[in-house]
Amino acid sequence: MRIVLTGAGGLVGKDLWLKLEPHSELWAVGRKKPETIPASQWKSLDIIDPELTIKTIQQINPDCVIHSAALSNPDQCEDNPDLGYKTNALGTRNIALACQKFDTELLYISSDQIFDGTKKTPYRENDSPNPINQYGFSKFWGENMIQTLLHRFYIVRTSLIFGTLRPTYIDKVVASALKQEPLIAATDIVNSLTYSKDLADAISFLIVKHLYGIYHIANEGFTSRYALSKTIASILKKKFDFIKKGNKNDLKLKAPRPGFTPLENFVWNLNEFPKIAPWEDALIRFLKEKGTLS
Ligand SMILES: NC(=O)c1ccc[n+]([C@@H]2O[C@H](COP(=O)([O-])OP(=O)(O)OC[C@H]3O[C@@H](n4cnc5c(N)ncnc54)[C@H](OP(=O)(O)O)[C@@H]3O)[C@@H](O)[C@H]2O)c1
Repeated sequence: MRIVLTGAGGLVGKDLWLKLEPHSELWAVGRKKPETIPASQWKSLDIIDPELTIKTIQQINPDCVIHSAALSNPDQCEDNPDLGYKTNALGTRNIALACQKFDTELLYISSDQIFDGTKKTPYRENDSPNPINQYGFSKFWGENMIQTLLHRFYIVRTSLIFGTLRPTYIDKVVASALKQEPLIAATDIVNSLTYSKDLADAISFLIVKHLYGIYHIANEGFTSRYALSKTIASILKKKFDFIKKGNKNDLKLKAPRPGFTPLENFVWNLNEFPKIAPWEDALIRFLKEKGTLS
């Protein structure tokens, strides 16, 4: 299978590259070539440019595009909404138009932030999106572009990704636990966690199935930032003293957070696809791989 990967230098993109490269004819496209990608498998592309996007996809002529590129930081999108819309909505439109023109499958990575967080149980794929921040709005707009323009697509919604290839919120908690430096941990931000390796495995499994549609893919279970910090401290056998119980307002984040957005892997499990590990297992594997835990 010939695959084009956008965002190959990002957190998820790097793990997708490692997972897919041995088994496919893989190309990475983006603004600057990551050191890990050979020049022979790279094409320069800013997805905001519609003509260049179409030309690049035409040149490679892939069976499938995995679209991982995004302005992925909600606070940056809140600061600069137009850049968020251009990257996440219009960039996704450009990729979808290229896939439409050359009859290529598309897998788009979306987010739990498309939901408003008012539901009391984990979100399923058919729950109604209602984003409350600019990032969520731009990602949902991207989903709409794909659903309007294509009939062979996967939309994979995921949440709070962590991995070894870029520092994330989890690394911040680990560092605070190890140094016993104070950390405000919100009790009212509750979501699923996703180990980028497990996400890469799931995406790799999905793209050969041709069972198109919307999927929630996250490690099983969910937690608050506060409970997550306590779990990390106890895995590392550290005192809880560094954790300051708080709420999302205490964090003074630029983008409002929806609060309760766990994702249920409802469609994935209904299909009886291989079970995705609970987040606690994934966290331990991650800490071992980082060498933080023996
Ligand atoms: N991280 C999370 O917790 C999370 C949660 C839910 C969903 N997601 C979604 O998962 C996907 C991957 O997220 P991530 O955390 O891996 O993102 P990331 O680490 O921030 O990487 C984003 C990638 O997108 C590329 N990019 C940005 N603007 C571009 C443009 N105009 N043209 C071409 N490439 C561009 C960046 O390349 P440059 O080097 O050129 O900037 C980078 O390689 C995104 O769609 C995100 O919305 C992430």
